[in-house]
Amino acid sequence: MKSFIGWIGGKSHLKNLIIPLIPNDIDRYIEVCGGAGWVLFGKEKKKGQMEVFNDVDGDLINLYRQIKNNCADLQKEIDWLHSRELFKLYRYEIENQISLTDVQRAARYLYLIKSSFGSNRNSFATTVKCLGRIVEELPEYRERLKDVIIEQADFQQLIKTYDRPSALFYIDPPYVGAEKYYNKKYCHFTMDDHRRLNACLRGIKGRFILSYNNCDFVTEHYCDFNVRYVSRKNLLPSKECSRGEYKEVIITNY
Ligand SMILES: C[S@@+](CC[C@H](N)C(=O)[O-])C[C@H]1O[C@@H](n2cnc3c(N)ncnc32)[C@H](O)[C@@H]1O
Repeated sequence: MKSFIGWIGGKSHLKNLIIPLIPNDIDRYIEVCGGAGWVLFGKEKKKGQMEVFNDVDGDLINLYRQIKNNCADLQKEIDWLHSRELFKLYRYEIENQISLTDVQRAARYLYLIKSSFGSNRNSFATTVKCLGRIVEELPEYRERLKDVIIEQADFQQLIKTYDRPSALFYIDPPYVGAEKYYNKKYCHFTMDDHRRLNACLRGIKGRFILSYNNCDFVTEHYCDFNVRYVSRKNLLPSKECSRGEYKEVIITNY
């Protein structure tokens, strides 16, 4: 299935290359920097396999938890919000930690993601006609998340908790140079964190799949692992992507 949201750095375009790399003999799958969960939702749920979904973004993780544990109340809250369409107010409430119930916070966060430009939660893009559809579809996502363990932790703590030889970690950190696009309340990724991730992955017992942008830092720090180079067309050329080609890598330790 597809994810229910767009997300900056979301892997809708790479999931078909990443999922076949997941080994068959693992007994736990851990998605470390979850975001919209394109790989988790794209992969098959395997009987007897533990699945863990994590992100440091507490608003995002609250949304997943409300879908999983409180779906009917969330559906009602989204219906109510949608009829008011107050993007600026909801954004203010989320950013300033105004006292809200977990269901209210989840509905507002979903609304901001769905109605903002490129799912950036900052600039209003459109009235969200499609929210009606998501309300109907939420039970499918509740079902998919039923046995998934949902965590909100920094990657290093999470990897330490779940590491063992039969584990597969899928890590999709903020790309080098794109750290500022995530929820500033929770995410302050720096070059030190990129180095910390590299050191952490060198010491694990399990296997990992890591996706990153193709830049000097990444190719130098992961040169002794298996690196697959991929590129895709980008409609918005920037300094990271020449002639509309955006270059990425998928790295494994097996
Ligand atoms: C490139 S996005 C992941 C996209 C995701 N794979 C998808 O398909 O939508 C990077 C994610 O890392 C999360 N993140 C940032 N710092 C983190 C940390 N220290 N530990 C875990 N996750 C973190 C961000 O909140 C963001 O959702």
